Amino acid sequence: MPLYPPVTDPKTIDWDNIPFDYVRTRSFIKYTWREGLWNEGELVTDGTLTMDVAATALHYGQSAFEGLKAFRMKDGKIRVFRPELNAHRLIKSCAATSMIPPTVDLFLLALKRVIEDNIDYVPPYESSGSLYIRPFVVGSGGQLGLSPAPEFYFCIFVNPVGDYYKGGMGNPVKALISHSFDRAAPHGTGAVKLGGNYAPAFLPSNAAKTRGYAVMLFLDPRTQTYIDEFATSNFAALTAPNPSDKTRTYVTPKSPSVLPSVTNRSLTELARKHLGWHVERRQISWEEVKQGKFEEMAAVGTAVVITPVEEVHREVVRAPREVKGLSTRDGVEDVWRDEEGDEEVEIDVARASG
Ligand code: COI
Repeated sequence: MPLYPPVTDPKTIDWDNIPFDYVRTRSFIKYTWREGLWNEGELVTDGTLTMDVAATALHYGQSAFEGLKAFRMKDGKIRVFRPELNAHRLIKSCAATSMIPPTVDLFLLALKRVIEDNIDYVPPYESSGSLYIRPFVVGSGGQLGLSPAPEFYFCIFVNPVGDYYKGGMGNPVKALISHSFDRAAPHGTGAVKLGGNYAPAFLPSNAAKTRGYAVMLFLDPRTQTYIDEFATSNFAALTAPNPSDKTRTYVTPKSPSVLPSVTNRSLTELARKHLGWHVERRQISWEEVKQGKFEEMAAVGTAVVITPVEEVHREVVRAPREVKGLSTRDGVEDVWRDEEGDEEVEIDVARASG
């Protein structure tokens, strides 16, 4: 079996049934920053990156990424959804990790180059798919001490995708809040998009999935009182329509640990400007969710789009004893955290009232 997947021929893609899985396309684009300058960039066709064995991305998590989408429109043109906002967010993520970011112009140019070279991977207008775009910056140069790499890569790969959660917008999911995991630390990096914010959620998310919860929902790390966000995306909720004028209120968390989602921002703008609804960006307590104050809840983000959430449970999730074939004999349990006292916590449930 080849180590890397071969390039997928776009003619073989079943556009009506694209999963949210890695598909190798014709090329990705790679720019290298060294000695104060980004190079001209190149389209790489072998699907791999080479970097120093001491690269800071590998050891110290010096790595930031973005996610955005391109769509084929009715007029045949391909449009990318609000790419400048992702460029600005990547710049912030790079600042948080002491990396050199691409300028907004370089980000947009790179996007154009890689999409043009992979244009036949953009799903047709009639399908519900899109071209997921994954820009990232990593410390690729070697460094042993705790300081930034002497070299960075800025790359973008593209990948045709369908629904992140099976059934997409038409299939409400169940979410789980666990007492035993925090997504972000107080004064930590929750508000920027770093690789290191995501890998720690794999383990509890897998445990949650095996119990029927599609996604983890995290509370604020300091008090465990307020909703922060899902492992994949932001939290948003709608109140029932106001009986007099039928307007609703779109409510989404205000928290220093939440990633400012482009999708969530766009939805708040649509709600306010186009529907005349109220928008509240404020602390949302778990108690209020539990009391059924919201008619609808959703996970909102680039990958998950708007995924309805019908139910949220709050309970303990123990680290699974089997992690991808490793058993406790291999030390998985030993290296995991002490969860003493968790047993006393009761299970809470919240449902969307609509
Ligand atoms: C995105 O929505 O673009 C993300 O990066 C989320 C990730 C879970 C795929």
